[in-house]
Amino acid sequence: MSKLTRRSFVKSTAATAGAAATFTAAPAILKAQGANEKIGMAVVGVGGRGQSHMSAWMGDSRTQITYIVDVDEKIGNARAETIEKKQGTRPVLVKDMREAFDAKDVDAVSTATPNHWHALCGIWAMQAGKDAYVEKPVCHNIAEGAALVAAARKYKKICQVGTQSRSSSALHEAVKFIREGGIGDVHFARGLCYKRRPSIGPLGDYPIPDNVDFNLWSGPAQYTDPRVTRQRFHYDWHWQRLYGNGDLGNQGPHQTDIARWFLGVNTHPKNVFAYGGRLGYKAERNDPDYVDAGDTPNTIVSIYDYGDKSLTFETRGLSVNDSDDEELNKLFQSTKGNKIGVVAYGTDGYMVQRTYSHCIAYDKDLNVIKEFKGGGDHFGNFLDAVESRDYNDLNADVLEGHLSAAVSHLGNISYYLGENNKASVDQIAEVVSGIKSLDDDIETLNRTVKHLKKNGVDLEKYPLSLGPSLAFDPVKEIFPNSPEATELCTRNYRTGFVCPTAAEV
Ligand SMILES: NC(=O)c1ccc[n+]([C@@H]2O[C@H](COP(=O)([O-])OP(=O)(O)OC[C@H]3O[C@@H](n4cnc5c(N)ncnc54)[C@H](O)[C@@H]3O)[C@@H](O)[C@H]2O)c1
Repeated sequence: MSKLTRRSFVKSTAATAGAAATFTAAPAILKAQGANEKIGMAVVGVGGRGQSHMSAWMGDSRTQITYIVDVDEKIGNARAETIEKKQGTRPVLVKDMREAFDAKDVDAVSTATPNHWHALCGIWAMQAGKDAYVEKPVCHNIAEGAALVAAARKYKKICQVGTQSRSSSALHEAVKFIREGGIGDVHFARGLCYKRRPSIGPLGDYPIPDNVDFNLWSGPAQYTDPRVTRQRFHYDWHWQRLYGNGDLGNQGPHQTDIARWFLGVNTHPKNVFAYGGRLGYKAERNDPDYVDAGDTPNTIVSIYDYGDKSLTFETRGLSVNDSDDEELNKLFQSTKGNKIGVVAYGTDGYMVQRTYSHCIAYDKDLNVIKEFKGGGDHFGNFLDAVESRDYNDLNADVLEGHLSAAVSHLGNISYYLGENNKASVDQIAEVVSGIKSLDDDIETLNRTVKHLKKNGVDLEKYPLSLGPSLAFDPVKEIFPNSPEATELCTRNYRTGFVCPTAAEV
């Protein structure tokens, strides 16, 4: 529980027990404006998730939202209204985040923009002297993650990542249980993101909503004016790689983070390999000519070698009525519906993360040994560190976020490089058998195939893509044997929106 600061822990346990939360007095706020003032917050990107940021800051007596930033004027206006009603003061609404970063009454920034903006937004904010709460994944590519970490350290700023499980008492207690040997030695973890994601509609040529400043929305990504290729402008960017990272890089970073935490690995893996595809939407629509607008895999299995530990991550976007694995059904205590979580495999049992605030430990015979329940206040933990000025007080420091986002990016890189390498199940099985992993990856492959077939995917007609097995240098953050893969650790930036490297911040 070392990282669960006293303040958030008291709050979380009190909330769990249904008792009134009682706090000790907050340490003096180290602000230029003086001790009586609140922490001025700017929330950048107030579409979906940004509203949770707003609620959190409005619900904490230490903060006041002084600015909100959104490139969609309609969304921005609606949120300014909401804040004014609840907070009593109306925040300044701007479209360009740099205006908020220049403002004297902004002390900290929280950002819930699309992924392609995360790192640059965080870096600009910290360069302007603000602390930053950055949503997961903290970066759109690996080099951006390293740059964000470097900026936090160089400017001595507090940078928390939006992986809120890191503040859950359930998770802290589960990790403690693992570290104390509760399930024996743990060398392997499996992450599951079995989360139904329907097609986002046909690939097309759609207008950008009038109220959106598309130049600012695109920012560090390539500018595709005057139209976009997906029907729904907001949110569905997740499934277009120019902006998003698929579900491995969307829901995934929560579970890659917990998997690393369970395993106790604080570095990048040495090797990655992935196979998958964007499959099943033709069958679902009963239309062989149907082309969905997304270009990220909806099905991907990625396998990571950390030396003496390994991780297998399974992402499924098609209907997930059954995991097709009896053990997983038992561990997650359900056969039906989405399964999102992590299993740590120990020599004496298993630890399962079922929700953000619930973990279960089992013995080898799948009897429950212990359950861990309880959430936490991740936003409050950020404020604790803003006050203490010590990033060690953070539950999800930017470095953790970078390492966990990189797991997603590494898997996607192998997939993208092998996208056109269509392979039969037998060919994939052959490669899988030679991959260094502590899992029975053939079983993982078999149940993935079963799942796809149940969803009507004809794998002879629409085969899986087989990515290359890639060695990764965890220190230099490059692929020593693959310049093409190393190229995918960054991107080409537009003038005015260049994300600096770690050396340049
Ligand atoms: N921690 C969590 O549990 C959690 C949950 C949901 C989403 N998220 C993360 O939050 C982020 C946002 O997701 P969402 O579902 O809200 O997406 P969304 O598309 O619904 O909202 C994004 C908002 O950002 C605005 N925006 C885009 N570019 C901007 C810019 N340059 N400056 C200011 N505003 C800009 C958009 O206009 C939109 O209002 C994602 O990165 C996602 O991974 C985290």
